[in-house]
Parts: sequence; structure tokens; C-alpha cells
Amino acid sequence: MEEDFFELVRELIESSMAHEKYRSEECINLIASEGLKSPAVKEMLSLTHDLESRYAEGENDLKGHVKTRHYQGQKYITKIENYSADLMKNLFGCNWIDVRLVSGTHANLATFKGLSLATKNNRMVVAPLMCGAHISHDYTGLAGRVIGLETINHAYDLDELNIDPEKSATIIEATKPGIVTFGGSLFQFPHPVKELAEVSREAGAYIVYDAAHVLGLIAGGQFQDPLKEGADFITASTHKTFPGPQGGVILANLEGERMEKAIRGVQNAVFPLTTSNTHLGRLPALGLVALELKLYGAGLAKQTVKNAQTAGEYLFENGVKVLGGKKGFTRSHQIAVDVQDYGGGRKVAESLEEANIILNKNLLPYDDQRNRENPSGIRVGFQDVTRRGFKESDVKHLCDLMLDVVKGKRKPSKVREDVIALRQNFKEIKFGFQSVNEVIDHLKKHT
Ligand SMILES: Cc1ncc(COP(=O)(O)O)c(C=O)c1O
Repeated sequence: MEEDFFELVRELIESSMAHEKYRSEECINLIASEGLKSPAVKEMLSLTHDLESRYAEGENDLKGHVKTRHYQGQKYITKIENYSADLMKNLFGCNWIDVRLVSGTHANLATFKGLSLATKNNRMVVAPLMCGAHISHDYTGLAGRVIGLETINHAYDLDELNIDPEKSATIIEATKPGIVTFGGSLFQFPHPVKELAEVSREAGAYIVYDAAHVLGLIAGGQFQDPLKEGADFITASTHKTFPGPQGGVILANLEGERMEKAIRGVQNAVFPLTTSNTHLGRLPALGLVALELKLYGAGLAKQTVKNAQTAGEYLFENGVKVLGGKKGFTRSHQIAVDVQDYGGGRKVAESLEEANIILNKNLLPYDDQRNRENPSGIRVGFQDVTRRGFKESDVKHLCDLMLDVVKGKRKPSKVREDVIALRQNFKEIKFGFQSVNEVIDHLKKHT
């Protein structure tokens, strides 16, 4: 018994070490929902161990600052929360935020719950799951089965790979939901927020834009700015194209009674309804990422989108069905590829994994929602390789390696050798700081 227990601990440590080497040194990571932190942000996380053990339960004010806290020992924690909130508000040009969410799903939970209580309306219009909505928007997931919302699908235009604004307007008018949701997990093209803002408001709905995937692109000014287009709330993860510690945020502009009522509802849903520990250790790192994106976000986002478009074009030229050709394949960090001709999403993702190219199988907009285990497609994201310094020619080289696997030209185990070699050429992380001291030096020079 004791021996078994010790053996488990040994294996746990060994697996953890092996994982770090495997995914961060030997693989090329193309999972569109994952981010890559800079050395400075990682160092900041390693400097905040005490904070990571603390609690700071309580209420916030209408600026998103700490109002009351129910524990002692908060004199620095309060400043840290307020500073990271202010840095994020400044980055996104808004006047209200909640940084206490521990994930994007948590941000959705608090926002959907808070708004459904504020509006006393349980209906929510969302994109269909196979057209890119996250499971937390869906009746089969958090929205339906946890919060009890009745979800109604936006109309989706398969040709445009987007929500159909005219037909969705009719749906919103007819169903009078409390929430209209945009954004998603398979998300190549900006959603018609501008087009549907007025009709949503007239129907009595709040607009929630789930920017989990594209928050970093928004910060870099390379994707639609939802708050400027009429969204009431942004919910997001802080660890995808926004390359920060794992966590979540909700952003909004407090203007007028309508928004005050909604923000109070959402804050109540954050605390006390859905939060106790808010994972405080991530907050200083979150603030550092805000600085990195303020300085380097535009360059990072521009190159990320360019790399995704290059991959779309190159794979398509080489005979692979990349979706969205007539629209330039993508305007975000990700592309969707139909791989039915090569055995389907599951087989292709597993073969690529053997070659140390890591991505995920994905439902495509014309798939049956129930076919999640073997959908037609794969989703490919370029935010990680871009941060490692990949430019268009490197992306084409990577696509050649992918094509070798997908088309069965070479054994994945052979391709793996080339993938590891390619990975070794990109050891530095760009568009960020290399250490906390470098951040401090930068501040000294510029203040
Ligand atoms: C659109 C969208 N919303 C929410 C989430 C959930 O975010 P988290 O994993 O931070 O809970 C995801 C996850 O990938 C997502 O794609």
C-alpha cells in the first residue's frame, strides 16, 4: 500500500516533468484555445506564491474596484486587484470590469445568470454549437443544464460562415430574449454585432460577446471591438490569444440605469453566487500581460492573423478543403479544415499528434451536433507559433509537414523528427518581456 502510494507520487512528478518537455519543447502547438505566456509573465506567477494561498471574498463597486472584503490581511491584495482591473480597463477602453472570474466558463456563468436574474427572462439567442458556439452557450451545457436558460439559435449562413443578420433579427424580434450572445470557439469572421445591436436592445435583450478566443486580437486592434459595435458585455478567458494566466474577465461600460441594473446583477452572480476563492495569484501576471499587449499587441495580433491566413491559403492551394476561401479563410487566429477525405477529424488529429503537431478535431457548421466524437473537421490556431516567431515562410514549412501526415506521404513518426527540429529553431518568445526586471527597466526608461 505505502509502496504503491509512493510510486504514484514518483510517477506524478515524472509525468509532470515529461509533460513540460513534451508540450513546451518538442511539440508545435496549434490548439486555437491555448495561449503562450512570456518569460516575464511566467516569472511574475512564480513570484506570487503567497497571494495564491489567500482569499478575498466580498463585494465590488461600480468601477470594478474592491468595495468590501470579508477577510483581514487585504491591504496589498486590494491594491493588486484594483491595479490589475485598471490596467485591463485601460487596455480595452472601458469603465467597468470584473477580474475575479477563474475561467471563461465562469465569466459566462456569472454573466448569463446575472442577466437572466436582472431581466427576469430565461431566453437566450446563441449561435448553433456546430457553427462555433461554446458548450457553455448551449442548451446541452452550462446555459441550459446548469442555469436553466432556454436557448434559441441564431440563423446561420453556411456560405458566409457567419450569423445571418437579417434572419437573426427576425428571430430576436419574435422571441424577445433577455440575452443575445455572439462570439464562439470556431470563430474565423467577426459576428454581426453592429447589425443586431439595435434590434436586440429594442427586444429588451442585453448583448453578450464571448471573446474567449479573440480577446488578444481585440486588444491588438485586429478584430471587431465588440463594445464599440454595441455589445453590452464582453466575457473572456485570459489565456488564449490573450496570452495570460488561466482566468476569466467580464468587461463593460457603465452608462445609464439600464447598464447599472445589469452590472449589479452580474456582480451579484460573481459574488456571492458563484465565487469564493478568486485565484488571486494570477492577478499581477494579468496586469503584466495588459502592458505587453499595450506595447506589442498590435504587432502580435497582426502577425497572428497573417499566419492563419497564410496557412489557409497554402493548405487550400495544396488541395485541402479549408473553409472560407472566398473570404480569405479567416480574419482571426484560426482556420477550420474539412478533412473528411482523409478519414475525418479524429483520425487526422491523432495522426498529427503522432508527429507532435497538436491540434483538435472540430465540428464544422454543416456537421450533426451529435457527431462530436468524429466530426468532419480540425481547427488550427496560430497564436502560439506566432508568439514563438513564426512568419509566413515558417508557416508554409509547417503546413508542408502537416500535409505529409494528412495525405499519408510519410509516416508521422518520421515527420516528428522534422517537427522537433523546426521547434528547436524557435526558442525565444516574442512580443513580450523576457523578465520582470526587463519590465521594471522599461518602466524606468519611459516614466
Ligand atoms: C468561446 C468560448 N467561450 C468560453 C470558453 C471557456 O473558457 P475557459 O476554458 O476559460 O473556461 C471557451 C473555451 O475554449 C470558448 O472557446
